[in-house]
Formats: sequence, structure tokens, C-alpha cells
Amino acid sequence: MKKDVRMVDLIEQKRDGKAHSRAEIRWLINGYTAGDIPDYQIAAWAMAVFFRGMTPEETVELTVAMAESGEMLDLSAIGRRCVDKHSTGGVGDKTTLLLGPMVAACGASVAKMSGRGLGHTGGTIDKLEGIPGFRVELSQTEFVEQVQRIGLALIAQSGNLTPADKKLYALRDVTATVNSLPLIASSVMSKKIAAGAQGIVLDVKYGAGAFMKTLAGARNLAAVMVNIGNSLQRKTTAVLSDMNQPLGRAVGNNLEVLEVIDALQGEGPEDLRTICLELGAWMLVNAETVADAAEGKERLRQVLADGSAWRKFLAFIEAQGGRLAAVTERKLEIAPLTAAFLAKETGYVQEVDAQKIGRLAMILGAGRETKESLIDYGAGLILTRKPGEWVEQGQPVLQLYTRDAQKLDQGLQLAAAIIRIGQEQPTLSPLIAEVVQ
Ligand code: URA
Repeated sequence: MKKDVRMVDLIEQKRDGKAHSRAEIRWLINGYTAGDIPDYQIAAWAMAVFFRGMTPEETVELTVAMAESGEMLDLSAIGRRCVDKHSTGGVGDKTTLLLGPMVAACGASVAKMSGRGLGHTGGTIDKLEGIPGFRVELSQTEFVEQVQRIGLALIAQSGNLTPADKKLYALRDVTATVNSLPLIASSVMSKKIAAGAQGIVLDVKYGAGAFMKTLAGARNLAAVMVNIGNSLQRKTTAVLSDMNQPLGRAVGNNLEVLEVIDALQGEGPEDLRTICLELGAWMLVNAETVADAAEGKERLRQVLADGSAWRKFLAFIEAQGGRLAAVTERKLEIAPLTAAFLAKETGYVQEVDAQKIGRLAMILGAGRETKESLIDYGAGLILTRKPGEWVEQGQPVLQLYTRDAQKLDQGLQLAAAIIRIGQEQPTLSPLIAEVVQ
């Protein structure tokens, strides 16, 4: 790399649609992380990327530079291939809590870092923190030892992971440059690469409650992320799944954990089971535990049916300090004020917009409005009827849970604007649209 490189030249290069070299990308990311390049120049560069895009090679280099800007987890001490899973985010998405034990019960190793949620409802870590005693912070030694022992550990993302992404994402958030394919893909994948697993499965959601509103958008994002992973010797697969309606029936942290408990015992909603079989099968393929997805699904059905996925979940909760009775006896706190939203007419539930349901759950207290907001683990809602289901006038469609009478009133008003009932059975988009490899 020439010594006399200047940020203004890189901005100009990108503004004119030219590609950066690997050394230029490294220089830019290292300089920004170290505080040598100011925010205003990176903001201008991000806007140039927004309009001009990046080549696949540049996107891979950007991912590596961001991954290597902080701690890189070394999972080699585990001595087995590890598999990680990431969801681009959705309402009622509790799949990680199910997939970890299901996949580990099939003999694969799951070593995963997860985030807290900002927005509708909590992330995986918030859901786990609702279980009394559960520790989301383990030392690296404890983390590795637990994966060796039971095949599964799930912890909060370390503060030292991908500092470049943290800084760049915060800047993109306030400069209208989040919505750029190479910037989203490199941001997500830098965290996966730094987290160390050799196999990766991405659940890329599309629809009203997703980051990507259209299937075409989700497909493009998936293709860029899969290319990054595979270029960096991580066996990567993306599943494109519907997020027009919430996943499962429960939305809100403790309510979702209760739904996970049901699903691990062979009950629970059909859509949740279907997506976990699909994602889990690819996790087993990418962990090289099974030869193909069909064999993976078969193994997963078995561990659900014979109770080994449920026992693995209990071993995992116990290993991380969670009180077992809280899950075996379903003693998770649910917010005390509850009310049902009743159908105003008889017919089929037409649509239940996932984004609006997320907003409703947040109003009830289940999500964070800002990073500083406190989550109410017991707040949320149950969709007693899902889209396509029949309801009689006066029967419940939603059951709301909160701690605040004013929020309950506000929630019931909002519910009236969300639920649509009609005489025609609605056509629903398929839960699993495509698999990208
Ligand atoms: N999620 C991320 O982690 N990064 C993005 O850029 C967008 C969504």
C-alpha cells in the first residue's frame, strides 16, 4: 500500500464507481477503527457505496477487515466442527432457542454468540435472561468447555467483537446508509466470521415484519452473504423465510420461551416446527454431521420425538446456571394484566401484519424503544388465531399481557387496527420460499 493514500481519494474512487484494492479496504477500516479517519469522510464513503455498490471481491475484503478489527474467536480447542446460525430478525422468532438443543442432540456442536434486541421484542439473549439464574456471560474457557461437554453454549456477544462494524453501523444508522446490500452483508458476516464457526446457516426473512420487504431483496442479500461465507471457507447456506406474519403464536420474551418448551416436547405451532426442521437440517449439513438435508430432517424429528432435544435443552439451561424448575414447571413470570382482543365478526383471519404486531408487543413492554429501555420479560401477546384460521364473532384473536393498564388500553386499540377478518380464505405466502447455497 502506498504511504500517501488519502481518504478523499478513496471517496472519489468509489463516487466514480471504481473498485478498491484489498490494501485500500484494510487501510480504510483500520484507520476508521483507530480513530484516524473522521466520521464525515466515512459517511461520504458509505453514501458512495450506497449508490455505486461493491464488487463481490471488495465485499469479501470488507468483511474480513471488519472481522479482524477486534477479537477473533478460536474454536479449534473444541476439536470438532462448530455450526452457527443467524436470523436477519423477525417477530416471534425464537428459533435459536429450539435449534441449539435440537442440533446438539443430533451430535453437532453449536457455539453461538447472540445479541440483545432493539425494536419489537428481545433478542435470544433477552429471552434467556428471562430464565432466573441464567448466565449469558461465560469466559472463553467456560464457553469452549461447555461445547465440548454438551455440544451447546449460547452467550452474549463479546464487547470486543468487530469494533469496526459497531462504529460503522452506528454511523450508517444516522446517515441513511444502512440499506446497502454490500454494507449489510459484510456487517452481518463479519460478526459470523469473527465468532469462529466453520458452518453457518442464515435465516433471511422477507415480508412486512422483516428488514427485507420483498423476496427478491432477500434473495439478493442471501446470495451476497452466502458468497462471503463460502469464499472464506465457511460452509454457508441461506434459507429465505416468510415474515409477513409472526412466527409461532407467542410474541414477547417469557411467552416465547414457554412456546419453545412446548415445541421441544413435540407440541407447539406447526410453522415454528417446520422452519426449525429446515434450518436445523442445514445446520447439520454444514456441521458435516449428515450427508443431506433430508437425512438432517429425519434425525431432527427423531430427537424431538424421543425427548433427547428436550433433555439437551435442560442440560444447557443447567450448565449456564438457569433454574431448572423455571422451565420444567413452566414457572416463568407472565405480566399480570391481561385482556383478549375479540373478533368483531365471524370469518377467516386475513392478515396479521408482523411489523404491527411487533409494535404492539413493544407497547406492552416486550421490546426496547431505545438501547437504554428496560424490557419487561413477562409482557407480550399470544395470537390465539393466526392468518387463515376461522374465528367466530366474540372469540379471542389476540391475548395481551402487560403490567400497565394504560398500555393495555392502548394495545387493544392498536389491535383493532391490525386484525382483519373476511369471508374468503386468504392465500398465504409459503413459510420457506427458497434455499440459497
Ligand atoms: N444487521 C446487521 O448486523 N448489520 C446491518 O448492516 C443490518 C442488519
